[in-house]
Amino acid sequence: MKTAFVTGGSRGIGKSIALDLGKKFHVVVGYSVSNEKAKEVSDEILNNGGSSSTVQINISESESVDKAFSSIEKEHTSVDVLVNNAGITKDNILPRMKEDEWLEVIQTNLTGSFYTSQRAIKLMMKNKWGRIVFISSVVGISGNQGQANYAASKAGLIGLSKSISKEMGSRNITSNVVAPGYIETDMTSFLDDQNKENIIEQLSIKRIGKPEDISNIVSFLCSDESEYITGQVIPVDGGLTT
Ligand SMILES: NC(=O)c1ccc[n+]([C@@H]2O[C@H](COP(=O)([O-])OP(=O)(O)OC[C@H]3O[C@@H](n4cnc5c(N)ncnc54)[C@H](OP(=O)(O)O)[C@@H]3O)[C@@H](O)[C@H]2O)c1
Repeated sequence: MKTAFVTGGSRGIGKSIALDLGKKFHVVVGYSVSNEKAKEVSDEILNNGGSSSTVQINISESESVDKAFSSIEKEHTSVDVLVNNAGITKDNILPRMKEDEWLEVIQTNLTGSFYTSQRAIKLMMKNKWGRIVFISSVVGISGNQGQANYAASKAGLIGLSKSISKEMGSRNITSNVVAPGYIETDMTSFLDDQNKENIIEQLSIKRIGKPEDISNIVSFLCSDESEYITGQVIPVDGGLTT
């Protein structure tokens, strides 16, 4: 059975991705601090007849990434699918943005995905097969007020993924980006009903997205059937960016 590693698999979009990939792969559910939530996701996969384990990882620290990958390799010998889902926000308008807010978001969202992708690719190259999916955001394409750090990190993932696709295509390793719009998770829990109504007004499909809207396309991009799709950016946003 192939192994899929989902960073930030303990909650929100990552949880939905982990549960869906659990139908086909051994899923390693990555978490930063929510060990109990990650265990619940892993248990749900097992209860559904799948195979799963959890691993603690702080993607912003290379030593932590090395430790997590070493433990996955020890148990499963390879990582065939990597979903770079973990991410954070530290919103502020640019004139007020502190250097720490900039650096922390870039270090976690962009550099963290560099660490994990580099480790995973070395394993995928040996097997001449691999699937990498980055969870970016529509704001990485269009920018957003108060999110210069986050938008820059998410735009950076697009360049990273496209470069991987060119370097690795001949080895059957694909790399793609999914760019969600507004999805109902802890990350967007600050939105009140009025905020939500304002967002829905801008959408073609008149509802806020669900984590499943993202996991459906991610599962396809991790499958054999998607082998001729690489270097792409796929917005899943209810028509926000058409
Ligand atoms: N929700 C949206 O509307 C939306 C829209 C566009 C893009 N996205 C992107 O989709 C991804 C998932 O978002 P979400 O809404 O599901 O977020 P969420 O509910 O806030 O969950 C974030 C996940 O990332 C993990 N994480 C945070 N910092 C980490 C670190 N340093 N190392 C490892 N794991 C870390 C968390 O682990 P713990 O549980 O252990 O803290 C958690 O599993 C993010 O990359 C986000 O930017 C979300």
